Amino acid sequence: MEQQEDLFKKIVSHCKEYGFVFPSSEIYDGLAAVYDYGQYGVELKNNLKQYWWKSMTLLHENIVGLDSAIFMHPKIWQASGHVDAFNDPLIDNKDSKKRYRADVLIEDYLAKLEGKVDKEIAKARKRFGESFDEKMYRETNARVKGYLDEYEALHHDFAKAMEENDLTRLRELIIEKKIVCPISGTTNWTEVRQFNLMFSTEMGSTADSSMRIYLRPETAQGIFVNFLNVQKSGRMKLPFGIAQIGKAFRNEIVARQFVFRMREFEQMEMQFFVAPGEELKWFEYWKDLRMKWHKSIGLGDEKYRYHDHEKLAHYANAATDIEYQMPFGFKEVEGIHSRTNYDLSRHEEFSGKKMRYFDTVKNESYIPYVVETSIGVDRLFLSVMCGAYCEEATDNGESRVVLKLHPALAPVKLAVLPLVRKDGLDEKARNVVEKLRFNFACQYDEKDSIGKRYRRQDAIGTPYCITIDHQTLEDNTVTIRDRDTMAQERINIDQLTEVIDAKTNMTNLLKQIAQ
Ligand code: GAP
Repeated sequence: MEQQEDLFKKIVSHCKEYGFVFPSSEIYDGLAAVYDYGQYGVELKNNLKQYWWKSMTLLHENIVGLDSAIFMHPKIWQASGHVDAFNDPLIDNKDSKKRYRADVLIEDYLAKLEGKVDKEIAKARKRFGESFDEKMYRETNARVKGYLDEYEALHHDFAKAMEENDLTRLRELIIEKKIVCPISGTTNWTEVRQFNLMFSTEMGSTADSSMRIYLRPETAQGIFVNFLNVQKSGRMKLPFGIAQIGKAFRNEIVARQFVFRMREFEQMEMQFFVAPGEELKWFEYWKDLRMKWHKSIGLGDEKYRYHDHEKLAHYANAATDIEYQMPFGFKEVEGIHSRTNYDLSRHEEFSGKKMRYFDTVKNESYIPYVVETSIGVDRLFLSVMCGAYCEEATDNGESRVVLKLHPALAPVKLAVLPLVRKDGLDEKARNVVEKLRFNFACQYDEKDSIGKRYRRQDAIGTPYCITIDHQTLEDNTVTIRDRDTMAQERINIDQLTEVIDAKTNMTNLLKQIAQ
């Protein structure tokens, strides 16, 4: 556990040191849960977005894109239910004056119980070796059973309190379990209150004419309210999808774990409109395809799992999360939801405008059903950084940090390095960059020893380093070094475009998931 915490800290500092992610407004001591993407972070993030966008719009002739405004009519958020129900239960500690999410305090307590069980099991496995029977141990060892029983009972009461929106009971559970504030160490808690997560601002210049509007907490509503615009202007027939990438804002009470939970973040959402009755078939289709998409990135299939929702929102008839094993546990990266015709029906009700599709085959009009895929770009980015980060010992007894990013996603595809900065090698290297920069994100680097330059490129995940040496001047060949194997091969400069393209082209990724 501690090892994983250390690893996570290393990844966070690597992100800062190598220009992937910076705390926002850092020279003013930062702004909680807001981050800026640096020179390599933005390239990696753009590549991830491009992969998603292309897999939606290029690989499906019935999916088109949209870029709707962040500001929307406030009634949209009444219709969607966000004004009334987009809340988190919050609680303050009176001594430290720190604010927490009551549900997260209890979830953390549950996670600690799980951790205790895991620790006992690991100890016993070590003690009993081959003959260890985990199932039996869980059922018979008094200490483990005690933890498990406590877990079950608390989990049951917690789920019930959340379902019934019983804030008093949530507080009681915190008190009963003697959950303390990590800062003050006391149980001097306030009542639990609901806290709406939407940011709001005023639009309009005069007091009379201004209206309260919200920063969108999800991009999906921009798709719903444009459903007929797109359908009619694009002559779309069901089933069809609308994809959108954009910023979303949530005033998270507890923002932590780096870019995992932010107050300003980015979503990639796709609403797939289908005929009523067909939604569960499409839900399965998207569940399967989205998992394939994640696995294609190459971080290891075993790092992903589904978490099917047992308790569904009142408007949903199926929902699952795709979780990735972060250093702090399996966490949701993407949600796939079968949302029935709830959103479109609500917009029909609140706007007074018909949100119906005329089905020429059935000769009737109806409100379509929707299957949504919704992924947070920043969480995806974090999963990729965590999965790609490697510390390795090298043959010469040194160590290196290497980001084993999929070559199509790497921020820089190749670095061109003159062995020395003289004898015309630097000029030759510049010529190579000049030739390749139209096709690939290239870097030229002549500073420091060649070894140091390789390390710098490893640390940002550059798949290829091209070295220009004295032989290059004689026969127009260069060495090309593979990031992962560190093996070097000598090839002609004229072959570079083909070799690099074969590995770094995004088509490689797209072909893996084309149905
Ligand atoms: N339209 C459905 C929707 O917004 P959600 O589960 O609330 O569903 C979808 O959010 C995805 O957005 C999540 O799976 C997660 O990846 C991302 N996300 C949500 N809140 C976030 C936050 N505070 N910071 C970063 N990403 C977030």
